Amino acid sequence: MRPPQSILPPYSGQAIGRTVDRTVNNSSAKTIAQAAAQPRTTPLIGQRITRTTPLLFGSNSKAYAGVTPEDYLHMRHHAGWQAGVDYIAAAIQQLTGAHAKAPVLEMGPGAGNATELMAKRFPKTPLLAIELDTTYAHFLSENLGKQGMHNVKVITGDAQHVALPPGQKAGLGFAVFSLTHLSPVQRQAFFNNCRQHLLIPGAQLLIVDEFLPDWGPLATPTLHTLGHYIHHGNIIAEALRQGHFKTAALEWQAMWSGIQGRADFKTSTRLFEAELKQAGLRVTHKQQLYPAADAKTLVPVTESGVYAYTLAFNP
Ligand SMILES: C[S@@+](CC[C@H](N)C(=O)[O-])C[C@H]1O[C@@H](n2cnc3c(N)ncnc32)[C@H](O)[C@@H]1O
Repeated sequence: MRPPQSILPPYSGQAIGRTVDRTVNNSSAKTIAQAAAQPRTTPLIGQRITRTTPLLFGSNSKAYAGVTPEDYLHMRHHAGWQAGVDYIAAAIQQLTGAHAKAPVLEMGPGAGNATELMAKRFPKTPLLAIELDTTYAHFLSENLGKQGMHNVKVITGDAQHVALPPGQKAGLGFAVFSLTHLSPVQRQAFFNNCRQHLLIPGAQLLIVDEFLPDWGPLATPTLHTLGHYIHHGNIIAEALRQGHFKTAALEWQAMWSGIQGRADFKTSTRLFEAELKQAGLRVTHKQQLYPAADAKTLVPVTESGVYAYTLAFNP
């Protein structure tokens, strides 16, 4: 089985349980071109695959190769996505009662699937969307403008470092399928930045994301790869069942970038929760959004799939 032409460079050696930082966001075009010239091999189950095409998700280069922002709009058919945005909308609803004027911050809006929905549902709430990739940031601004949605300010920048002026800090932060595009070290930097420069004291942070099976002490790179096959296999099967072929294709790419450890750093809920603890965050609510308890998945696994977390910062 070969990955599609557009797959990222090979598996970086990241194993579950190990913290590996891959700085993927500031690579220059030259670095990318140099990397492209280097054939590499990827350890996969039972075979070695030679890859030559490097791509970065979240850099100023194109996201997954050939994946336009228009393609990316199909992410809204990803299993668990709708439940995730409903979860976040419910939290914004509560917040607008409490702090009507506080902005809501989104980290990594991508093509703006969740952004657009929130902008429509909460037209009076100021939304701040921090997007690293300039192509996506432009697309999002233009798309929202065309639809007459002017309550969203798109900030092109890295959510690890962007600082909001004190009067503009957000009363709630959220990220949908974006946090796992930061490495564990980058996630710590993002959490710190939320505490110091993005959110007002007492603000909650909501994360909706994908999590892999947890192999515990057995974890090896091979099982890490297998975890991607299992998780994404379920999502791809679900998309195909529903006739969302572009969503299935996006997930196929996401699976390979995760296996290769480039700009896609999914982990298990257990290890993620350890990261949260390290960052001084506590889980005030956690919900599995996909698969549902009675769902028929290609491969049945526990504690993996799509989860929503509500997080509060320890004082
Ligand atoms: C999977 S997409 C987001 C999907 C989107 N939230 C949705 O609902 O369809 C992840 C996005 O996070 C962005 N991203 C990655 N690292 C980032 C960072 N450090 N700061 C801001 N955005 C980042 C990527 O450029 C990409 O657009």
